[in-house]
Amino acid sequence: MISSGREYHLHTGYERRKLSGHLLDWANQPDIYKEYPRTEKVMLSLDVPMPNETFFQIIGKADTDIRPESISLEEISRIFALAYSITLKSRYPGGEFFHRSVPSAGGLYPCELYMANRNASESSEQNLQPGLYHYAVSKHALERLRPGNFLEKGCALRFFVTAVFFRSAWKYRERSYRYHLLDAGHLVENLVLTLKSLGLPFRANDDFEDREANHFLGLDPQKEVCLAIIDVPGMESASETSRLSEIETLPEAFREASRTSQKEIHYPALTEIHEKTSRLTASANPLPDMLTNICPRPISWQNIPKPETFPEKMNYAEAAIMRRSLRNFVRKSLPKAYYQSLIKILCEGGADDVGDKNAVCIGFLTENIEGVEPGYYLLNRRDASAALVKSGFFMEKMAHICLDQEWLAHAALHFFFVTNLQILEKHQGARGYRHAMLRAGGSGQRIYLGATAMGLGCCGIGAFYDKEAAEFLELNEPSAMLYLLAVGQVKKFF
Ligand SMILES: Cc1cc2nc3c(=O)[nH]c(=O)nc-3n(C[C@H](O)[C@H](O)[C@H](O)COP(=O)(O)O)c2cc1C
Repeated sequence: MISSGREYHLHTGYERRKLSGHLLDWANQPDIYKEYPRTEKVMLSLDVPMPNETFFQIIGKADTDIRPESISLEEISRIFALAYSITLKSRYPGGEFFHRSVPSAGGLYPCELYMANRNASESSEQNLQPGLYHYAVSKHALERLRPGNFLEKGCALRFFVTAVFFRSAWKYRERSYRYHLLDAGHLVENLVLTLKSLGLPFRANDDFEDREANHFLGLDPQKEVCLAIIDVPGMESASETSRLSEIETLPEAFREASRTSQKEIHYPALTEIHEKTSRLTASANPLPDMLTNICPRPISWQNIPKPETFPEKMNYAEAAIMRRSLRNFVRKSLPKAYYQSLIKILCEGGADDVGDKNAVCIGFLTENIEGVEPGYYLLNRRDASAALVKSGFFMEKMAHICLDQEWLAHAALHFFFVTNLQILEKHQGARGYRHAMLRAGGSGQRIYLGATAMGLGCCGIGAFYDKEAAEFLELNEPSAMLYLLAVGQVKKFF
């Protein structure tokens, strides 16, 4: 029985020579597109004007607190197009693959996106009728699950990010809860950046009542669960809100839609850890600074200034659509401005600021950056300073730790996310594990988008030998690496 985030993380660690071969049951491959039969569909458009700003303009501007009077269907189309739509169809010898605006471990896309809305002004043709909707990715359409006003009077939109357990468990089994959370973190950050690019206010909230959210969405919580909620505040509206006690149970057919395959295998570790992270633990004490609690204690911190200009090759909307996982890294020296820009991306606010910035700390390995000593560094996001933990060429070593994915050795940077699982647990209970993994995924999405905007390759890495990673990074016993991303110049961008 899994009793904490730390225990789950240890339990699902990979160990060299102990990885049991797992044959994929292709006949039972989960469906990655959820659809609700017999629901009213609202088709969204992909042919809508996109924001012009660059990625760095968007992350650099202050969050707005100007509440929109209403949000048109065109704006809603834009939000879903940038946040989670299909952006490319690619062919490979065995078939076709549909990329989305966010990456996903193994391309299994466990996450689903739902939205509830209310209209402050009288409904018009340009507005979406108030209700709860599911985003059908393959159709770029909204499926109406409930009609009515369910949001508080000052809330215009509420997004729910869920994960369908078996989609990733089919391949990654018990380890898959890590990917549910990381993938969800990517999606939350992508959505938040989209809202920011459209000048909308937002409030990310991962401390919500799980049971209430799952009930409202009509999920079968053994199969699919809500992991994060993002609100768009709106004008106070006069129309009444349905009381929670009046929220009916959705039809059984809707609950059944959480099933993705005829023969789903239940992995108790997943429901156990999820159940533990479902408990809200109100801690009066803020988390201590993780940087001083993972073990390496570098002495000399140096500020990394922002570059004179950000070397962007395309604007934000183009980067959101063009984003892919690229692995064809070349050992070519990277000008310093790219490095400074990547650091800037991680130090600016985001969904990350909403939760606790201390939940994870960031380190990186560098090689091949002009004017930067190769080595292992820690990053202090509060003042954008970095400290050298040890100098040397470590990319090859890390590629070996990451299940011998040798191409990783040719990147210019490896960013990794680390936390002290015991401290998280003490301050936030098992929910802290959820926070930390969502944060790591969110920062990962920023790195992907920033790298793409600058014409660099990027790839997230969830597969690594856990103990080897902790040993190499000189972490103390309760600390662990959660996620890694490689960034660098690539042979062919697209
Ligand atoms: C949490 C996470 C873990 C990942 N782990 C790996 C990995 O270990 N190795 C790898 O080559 N790609 C990894 N990827 C990249 C996915 O394979 C990729 O996102 C997916 O195939 C979809 O392709 P796209 O990102 O080009 O759209 C990971 C992505 C995420 C979000």
